[in-house]
Amino acid sequence: MRNLRTNVIDTGQHKHHGVYLRSGLFRCTWWVVSIIFGIMPARGQIASTIPHLAKHGTATQLMVHGTPFLMLGGELGNSSASSLRYMAPVWPTLKTMGLNTILVPVSWELLEPREGEFDFTLVDSLIQSARENDLHVVLLWFGSWKNSMSCYAPAWVKMNQRRFPRARMSNGKALEILTPFSIENKNADIRAFSELMKHLRIMDGRQQTVVMVQVENEIGMIPEARDYCPEAENSFLQVVPAELMAYLKEHRMSLAKGFSQSWESAGGKMSGTWEEIFGKGVQTDEIFMAWQFARYANDVAAAGKKEYTLPMYVNAALMRPGSKPGQYPSAGPLPHLMEVWRAAAPQIDFLAPDIYFKNFSEWLGSYDRSGNPIFIPEADQQQSLTNAFYAFARHNAMGYSPFSIESAAHPEGNQFSKGYDVLRQLTPLILEHQGRGTMDGFLLDSVAQVARVTLGKYIFTVKHEYSWPYATRVEGQIPRYGGLIVQVAEDEYFIAGSGVVVTFQSSSDDGTSVGILRMEEGTFVRGLWMPGRRMNGDQDHQGRHLNLPGGEFSIQKVKLYTYK
Ligand code: DGJ
Repeated sequence: MRNLRTNVIDTGQHKHHGVYLRSGLFRCTWWVVSIIFGIMPARGQIASTIPHLAKHGTATQLMVHGTPFLMLGGELGNSSASSLRYMAPVWPTLKTMGLNTILVPVSWELLEPREGEFDFTLVDSLIQSARENDLHVVLLWFGSWKNSMSCYAPAWVKMNQRRFPRARMSNGKALEILTPFSIENKNADIRAFSELMKHLRIMDGRQQTVVMVQVENEIGMIPEARDYCPEAENSFLQVVPAELMAYLKEHRMSLAKGFSQSWESAGGKMSGTWEEIFGKGVQTDEIFMAWQFARYANDVAAAGKKEYTLPMYVNAALMRPGSKPGQYPSAGPLPHLMEVWRAAAPQIDFLAPDIYFKNFSEWLGSYDRSGNPIFIPEADQQQSLTNAFYAFARHNAMGYSPFSIESAAHPEGNQFSKGYDVLRQLTPLILEHQGRGTMDGFLLDSVAQVARVTLGKYIFTVKHEYSWPYATRVEGQIPRYGGLIVQVAEDEYFIAGSGVVVTFQSSSDDGTSVGILRMEEGTFVRGLWMPGRRMNGDQDHQGRHLNLPGGEFSIQKVKLYTYK
């Protein structure tokens, strides 16, 4: 560990005008020293020793240092991590809010300001600060695309449009979007990303502060559904790649509805051009474009993994109901295009939604299919953190991360510090029960005011706290409340979250009634349950229910019994 810290500091001292040379005496010396002292993992490290994904029942979990890890995350605003001075006061607030992971952009323009010259000073310092604040890091590669655009491409790329061609509109107008049809664009991105991953392996392979990498950001075509540059036009007339057709055939029964409709209504053919197979229209333009974007992202990820095999994912900008491809970023890793992305990009471990819309559970559900692991890299900071409880318990999410976390007001007492404190306590329990069928989550708001959960021999009816006349209310609004239930023994359950009232029934309809034998609030300290108040009388409505008050996050343990 000490050696690695020295490494970060050392590398800063060996800069050449603030920029690394790709080869040179220092680099050679460093490699030799690293290998001799065993501080640098070799290129094909054993997969289980570096962060990786692993199955746990039906769940997919992130493993760090060989143990499951639940990310209580937050993503930095786009420009914050470009300045160490700006970041200095941010780090302690992240710690105050109880995050264990921070999602940090790495921009191509700052990493490779001149072609072939890489500056890792910023990346190293950010990782070092994360370590000093007990945080893990997910790096976001802002390479060829960031929210459709190519604004993070270095100036030497932006200025040389002949070598690095742009996507074009149907009227021929060039966009500030690198076309995915150019090998030169892709290779330039690959070279930079590979250098980044190689550097990470060397400086972080042992300490594993960085646990995962996002490839590009919210890829998608805008303002039209596809690219019309000459290479795109040519490619559009070619036959659909055999790999895609084979994948579609194999997954025919489980394709997303919108997608299979396009295919079936054009005759369900097995070979032909894009329009022959999927029909004419923006839906086909989008499918075509998704294949190209996914192929490009796959090749970037593959090259990076060759250097350092961290889990890699892509994130999606979701669309408003009724909007058309091109009105929203067309062809991104969206639920209706999941099969195209999976067929084209086997090196991408999963597709992740950025959920800013209020119908959080619907969007999450649409990503939790055909084995796609769940991670929410961006969530609306204004929305309730009960979303995280729900995601971890219902969808076995490996992490949750509100966007622009550093701008959250009152870090010492806001919903993140309160909610992440409880989730941190619950982490061993959540990780143990993910994918085992012994845990579930629920979300309640003005639309869904009741949820029913069956675990073991009991049915739990979970109602919004406002359904109870004695609940404390904020006038004029129905806040989102929710949480999770974990079964730990035949009659024993932990219930955690905020703003709910839970009643209990037997799952057998033979007239059996259910009562509360014992109920207590409490906290987990280093994984051990420390009971607080015994909850009875007014606190359990004279034996009728369990209440987790709104406006805070808490845990209660209940033991039930049956009678006739
Ligand atoms: C989604 C993007 O992925 C983020 O980088 C940021 O631009 C947010 N939108 C802003 O809301």
